[in-house]
Amino acid sequence: MVMGNKTYQQIYQKWQDDPEGFWAEAAQDLSWDRPWDQVLECESAPLYRWYAGAKTNTCYNALDRHVEAGHGDRTALIYDSAMTGAVKKFSYDVLLNQVAKFAGVLEGLAVKKGDRVLLYMPMIPEAVMAMLACARIGAVHTVVFGGFAAKELAKRIVDAEPKVIISASCGLEPGKVIAYKPLLDQAIDLAQVALKTVIVERPECPATFIDGRDYKWDDVMTSANAVPCVSVNSTDPLYILYTSGTTGAPKGIVRDHGGHMVAMDWSMKNVYAMSPGDVYWAASDIGWVVGHSYIVYGPLIRGCTTILYEGKPVGTPDAGAFWRVIADHKVNALFVAPTAIRAIKREDPKAELLKQYDLSNFRTLFLAGERADPDTVKWSEDILGVPVIDHWWQTETAWSICANFMGIEHIPVKYGSPSKPSPGYDVRIFNDEGLELPPGELGNIVVKEPLPPGAMLTVWKDDKRCIDTYFSEFEGYYLTGDAGHKDEDGYLYIMGRTDDVINVAGHRLSTGAMEEVLSGIVEVAECAVVGVADELKGQQPYGFLVLKNGIKRPNDEIIKAAILAVREEIGAVASFRNAVIVKRLPKTRSGKILRRVMSSIAGREDYIAPATLDDPVILDEISEALIDFKG
Ligand code: COA
Ligand code: AMP
Repeated sequence: MVMGNKTYQQIYQKWQDDPEGFWAEAAQDLSWDRPWDQVLECESAPLYRWYAGAKTNTCYNALDRHVEAGHGDRTALIYDSAMTGAVKKFSYDVLLNQVAKFAGVLEGLAVKKGDRVLLYMPMIPEAVMAMLACARIGAVHTVVFGGFAAKELAKRIVDAEPKVIISASCGLEPGKVIAYKPLLDQAIDLAQVALKTVIVERPECPATFIDGRDYKWDDVMTSANAVPCVSVNSTDPLYILYTSGTTGAPKGIVRDHGGHMVAMDWSMKNVYAMSPGDVYWAASDIGWVVGHSYIVYGPLIRGCTTILYEGKPVGTPDAGAFWRVIADHKVNALFVAPTAIRAIKREDPKAELLKQYDLSNFRTLFLAGERADPDTVKWSEDILGVPVIDHWWQTETAWSICANFMGIEHIPVKYGSPSKPSPGYDVRIFNDEGLELPPGELGNIVVKEPLPPGAMLTVWKDDKRCIDTYFSEFEGYYLTGDAGHKDEDGYLYIMGRTDDVINVAGHRLSTGAMEEVLSGIVEVAECAVVGVADELKGQQPYGFLVLKNGIKRPNDEIIKAAILAVREEIGAVASFRNAVIVKRLPKTRSGKILRRVMSSIAGREDYIAPATLDDPVILDEISEALIDFKG
């Protein structure tokens, strides 16, 4: 169904015919303090810059612009906590006031344009306020997901060198209060840095404050002065968001002000079909890119109401929680990881709980973050009776590389495919030698340079790492790290990663980082972590440990120690619960570990032993070890 006067194909063609004209037009909806000299600056290619020479401010476009246009009464943010039962609504007026005051607090702590501010926060309104306050004064925020442990947090503190950290006394997980402040204290000690902190003290858990270093949010806000937006370059950094790569050192993906806000506005309008005043809910976490793009920036830039949900799809209190939120707040579109839908389906397969709620305002369900399996898509369509849209994107891109564009044309859904490329993305499938493959053939998914507005500027402090990781394999193309194929009609199919990244419940994790932790256990001589197919979470990490000779400690104790070490060093979010001890790891004759085969054996999937395997007996040994393993 075509929504406007142009089809998807016509819009995509329009972009192909005149990319710069296309993005110049898209930028007209936003407010600029100074126009750009060039829509696209190519001097630092492959690290291109959008709207070079322009001045703007993302916070201004997300808040002030709407208030100045007379929409201050409109609800900007609804905080709904299934953990505490609290529901709080903030109009654009009120949110702007709070953000401007917190920006004043940051200035009072000597934070200036370009300084970094790190956030380690649960899903509470202060987190959104702090992000926008940074944007307001041109400070660069870096949000670290609350499920990461102190050591991972410390790595990010060391890399980003924040002047101030904003945190809370605790996060709330079902049945437990996670005290964040002790983790933060430990991380600051590990990082050995001098900085200030602002802590939101929640009623569920008091925090200990260090005099002269830690400030209480409520105290500093009482005396704060609201400050205006600082005009920044379009190409200045708005945020750094760390994401997992092949090694244990996370990559700090850097995003700009100008390109990002255009991408957010364009995608809210054209992918999600959102108009100002609509209610949009991304059930993710502000610690992930989905949270940055579609809990905070996208909906607010577009003038929508955004939902900040603190809770889970199931167990808070039941599998009807999402339907309750949609009904209570008249949500028009929900964006969620397929895992959440699978969790609901497992608890309430006939969607009985749905009958209690009025979902008459609900228009579309969007899925991303991991592969949307056809069963989950079909089940959602059946129970909800609305279009269910799979779309594919990454931290690096900030918005969809492929989607079904509900604001342009709802093209026929093909199950298992996130549909077609967004304008801005020329997506190709290459074999390992860089030759383009015909439809149906599996290969590396790449995107022709330049990437569109919204895509990363670079890796923080490391242009070389950015170029080496993403732009060196195939000259002139961005390497997505995903494998897949296209069909005859141009639909993309994403089949999995080509690197050591795994996807657990929509969370992107590095097996390399887990292997680094396991290698630190004294008895471990060698190890491998692989992602194994899991019905609920998409993938689960499995560790395979080879022990040194003459080890005295019993195997089950070593396994317990391994599981604990990953939890303590990476965090609970890694969901590392499975490890087995094996005699050897299967390798090729050249010494490469055969991870895919190990993953298939652990997932009880069929596999073909590669001809390059140095000793086929090893595969039987691994199967036996897994049979003995009690989970
Ligand atoms: N702060 C602290 N700990 C956190 C956390 C946070 N923000 N988020 C998760 N954790 C912890 C959990 O408490 C859990 O700890 P445990 O091992 O002690 O039980 C662990 O990390 C794993 O959490 P989770 O991935 O949520 O798994 P689960 O088994 O508790 O719940 C689902 C399963 C399917 C309900 C849950 O994974 C889910 O809601 N998935 C949706 C995923 C999503 O929205 N992804 C965003 C990407 S778009
Ligand atoms: P993240 O950077 O955390 O958003 O994770 C990005 C990765 O998640 C992608 O590179 C894919 O591997 C995977 N992914 C995201 N969306 C989809 C999707 N719709 N289908 C398949 N895989 C997806």
